[in-house]
Amino acid sequence: MADKVYVDNAEATEAWNGVLFDRFVEYRDVLVTALTSFGDDAIRNDPPETGDRVLDLGCGFGDTTRQLAQLIGPEGSALGVDVAERFIETARAEAAAEGVANVEYEVADVQEGVPEGPFDYAFARMGTMFFANPGAAMRKVRGALRTGGKLCNVVWRQKAENEWFYRSELIVDRYVERPDADDTDEPTCGPGPFSMANADTTSGILHGAGFEQITLRRLDLDVNMGSTVDRAVGMALAIGPAAETVRLAGDGAEHVRGEIERDLKALAEELLTPDGVIVPASVWVVTARAGAD
Ligand SMILES: C[S@@+](CC[C@H](N)C(=O)[O-])C[C@H]1O[C@@H](n2cnc3c(N)ncnc32)[C@H](O)[C@@H]1O
Repeated sequence: MADKVYVDNAEATEAWNGVLFDRFVEYRDVLVTALTSFGDDAIRNDPPETGDRVLDLGCGFGDTTRQLAQLIGPEGSALGVDVAERFIETARAEAAAEGVANVEYEVADVQEGVPEGPFDYAFARMGTMFFANPGAAMRKVRGALRTGGKLCNVVWRQKAENEWFYRSELIVDRYVERPDADDTDEPTCGPGPFSMANADTTSGILHGAGFEQITLRRLDLDVNMGSTVDRAVGMALAIGPAAETVRLAGDGAEHVRGEIERDLKALAEELLTPDGVIVPASVWVVTARAGAD
């Protein structure tokens, strides 16, 4: 497959506001629980300060925004931004239901511009890997932070060390060739979840965007990909690289769906524990400070 060069985020926005939103709702319990363990560790080690003005990038359902809002206290304020309106609508409704007063949400494509700062602290949990132009987007983030303001950004490390995604994709690759992005009508999710896995690339993007004191801390945790084999197989076919190949292939994958499901089931059975399908996963917790203009 030829790598597609993305210019803007129109296609990714369509995917995140459409099919990917629906799948995130369906597998929210699995996915958000897994991501929470990484996010919690990042926030515990690099928290915002009381009274900070906080920005949460690609906030999805906005649970981390509410968590940060509670940490900074009533003197502070937290703003979650996401390119997908449906995520923002859900986040707003849940914040209102939970009665979190110092949190707001806005629809925004980070690459096009974030709401006016200055913010003291910018956070992202898997929210920065889908930008067509990550350099431009991270420059916008740096510009929204006060000089010296902190970035804390959780991104996936290399796919091979994220066993469920990796091995699921190897199974799908046995049966389906991922279509070239120009040869499918399905919108792709942009550069993809592993686009910031390379430490040099990611630190280079941040350095180029005007960040300083850049650090990447490797964090390995076991995550639960489903309480049952069927739930884990469903997850593999809903979210992540294997799911993306099947979705983009459309009818081209239907004749081998039975074989794919059989092999995914065997993988899930191999990894099944009394608590569910537990697999090693690995992220970078990237921190940096905004340099002066
Ligand atoms: C993997 S989800 C992570 C969501 C959330 N941070 C979490 O941890 O549950 C990625 C999120 O980034 C959002 N996103 C993708 N491209 C974006 C962009 N250009 N600007 C803002 N948000 C974006 C998606 O809509 C989606 O909600």
